[in-house]
Amino acid sequence: MTFDDQELLDRDPLIERVLISSADIQRRVAELGREISSDYGGDPPVLVSVLKGAIVFMADLIRRISVPHEIDFMSVSSYQGGTQSTGVVKILMDLKTNITDRDVLIVEDIIDTGATLTYLEEILQARKPRSLRLCTLLNKADAHTEDIAIDYLGFDIPNEFVIGYGLDYAEQYRNLPFIGIMKG
Ligand code: IMP
Ligand code: MG
Repeated sequence: MTFDDQELLDRDPLIERVLISSADIQRRVAELGREISSDYGGDPPVLVSVLKGAIVFMADLIRRISVPHEIDFMSVSSYQGGTQSTGVVKILMDLKTNITDRDVLIVEDIIDTGATLTYLEEILQARKPRSLRLCTLLNKADAHTEDIAIDYLGFDIPNEFVIGYGLDYAEQYRNLPFIGIMKG
């Protein structure tokens, strides 16, 4: 844990503890960036990020990718602001990029049940990309209700509600530099 992590933790009584420190996140993101850079060499891939949770990860990840690439954003919603998945997935904003025949890499913040991702992959696959892979910072393997193939994984985490580094609780806490667990 860094001094900043500790200070932010001390300041907010609703955060129980730090699950993944900012230093550990940065180290892992750098490794993922290197892996992705060595796997993609030809045509620039399109990194597709799902708003809003994945923006922090996306912003850090692309600065660790050394090969040419593009980024684009989509917005889907499966949560209604609480801590439980509703299973309802709605497309709120679509890509601007035509991904037909492109190498597409989905950049996600977290795979929980996998419902959002499964829906997203279906939509993107229908547009006939040349390849479609998944990079997620966090994975709650015990929470999956769908079969999910992860190509690039940051961390496996327990089935607990986490906040920070883009992830919110009722739209708050996205700014935390670490992944934390809320008091239950
Ligand atoms: P899934 O469809 O159940 O896999 O849920 C995916 C989405 O739910 C993520 O992209 C997040 O926005 C949200 N989510 C799932 N688990 C958490 C969590 O622990 N903290 C904050 N948001 C979460
Ligand atoms: Mg959310």
